Amino acid sequence: VKIAIAGGTGDIGEGLTLRFARDTDHRLVVGSREAEKAQSAASEYQSRLETRGVEADISGAENTAAVTDADVVVLAVPPYHIGDTVVSIRDHLSGDQVVVSPAVGMRGDDDGLHYHPPGEGSVTELVVDRVPGKIPVVGAFHNLAAGRLSDLDAELGFDTLLVGDDADAKATVASLVEEVDDLRPLDAGPHANAAEVESVTPLLVNVARYSEGMHDLGVSFH
Ligand SMILES: NC(=O)c1ccc[n+]([C@@H]2O[C@H](COP(=O)([O-])OP(=O)(O)OC[C@H]3O[C@@H](n4cnc5c(N)ncnc54)[C@H](OP(=O)(O)O)[C@@H]3O)[C@@H](O)[C@H]2O)c1
Repeated sequence: VKIAIAGGTGDIGEGLTLRFARDTDHRLVVGSREAEKAQSAASEYQSRLETRGVEADISGAENTAAVTDADVVVLAVPPYHIGDTVVSIRDHLSGDQVVVSPAVGMRGDDDGLHYHPPGEGSVTELVVDRVPGKIPVVGAFHNLAAGRLSDLDAELGFDTLLVGDDADAKATVASLVEEVDDLRPLDAGPHANAAEVESVTPLLVNVARYSEGMHDLGVSFH
C-alpha cells in the first residue's frame, strides 16, 4: 500500500509517517508544497527510524506528485487550507483511492480551544464537498496527539474514530490503523457524524491544559 501524506512535513504528518513506517511494511510518501522540504523531512524521518533499527520506505515529493498513484491520501494540513489543498491535488486523484481527513477546525480564546467547524458542518464534510465525485473520504486520526505519535517510546493505547459513507473505504483505513501498535479503529458512523468526532479534539487539549500532569491526551472507549 502506498500512503501519501500531504503536509507530511507538519506535526501530525510526522507522527503518522513515523508510526506507519515503523509498524507496517507500507510505502510512505511525505508531501509538501515544496518538493525539497518534503524530501528533507522524509530523510529525517527515515534516519530517526534507522537509529532504531527500522528499515522504512519513506520518500518525499511535492503534494501533487506524492498523491499520484497513492492508495490512501491523508490531508495533514491546517483545516483552513484543506479546501485549497484538495483543489490543488484533485486532478491527481482517482476513484480507486481513499482520501483521509484528520483536520479539526478550532479557535482559541483565554479559556481554551473551541470547536469551530466550517459551514459544511465539519472539516470532513468540507473535504467530501471538494473532492471529485467518486473518491471516497474517511475522517480519521482527529483525536490523536501529534506529540504522542512522534515520540516512538510512547505507548498509544488509543482509539481512532472513523467516519465515512463508503464501507469499503472505511474498511481500508481500519485495516491500516489496526497495523499500528496500540491503535484501535472504531466506526463512528457516516460523514454526518464527523462534527461530534472532530469536536472531541479541543476537549482533549483543554483537559490537558487544566489538569496537572496531563498532556498529549487521546481517547479510548470501554
Ligand atoms: N497536531 C496535532 O496533534 C493534530 C492532531 C489531530 C489532527 N490534527 C489536524 O491535522 C492537520 C495538520 O495539523 P498539524 O498540527 O500537523 O499542522 P501544521 O504542522 O501546522 O501543518 C501541517 C503542514 O501543512 C502545510 N501547510 C501549512 N500551511 C498551508 C497552506 N496554506 N496550504 C497548504 N498546506 C499548508 C505545511 O506543509 P508544507 O509547508 O510542507 O506544504 C505544514 O507542514 C490539521 O488540520 C489539524 O487539525 C492535528
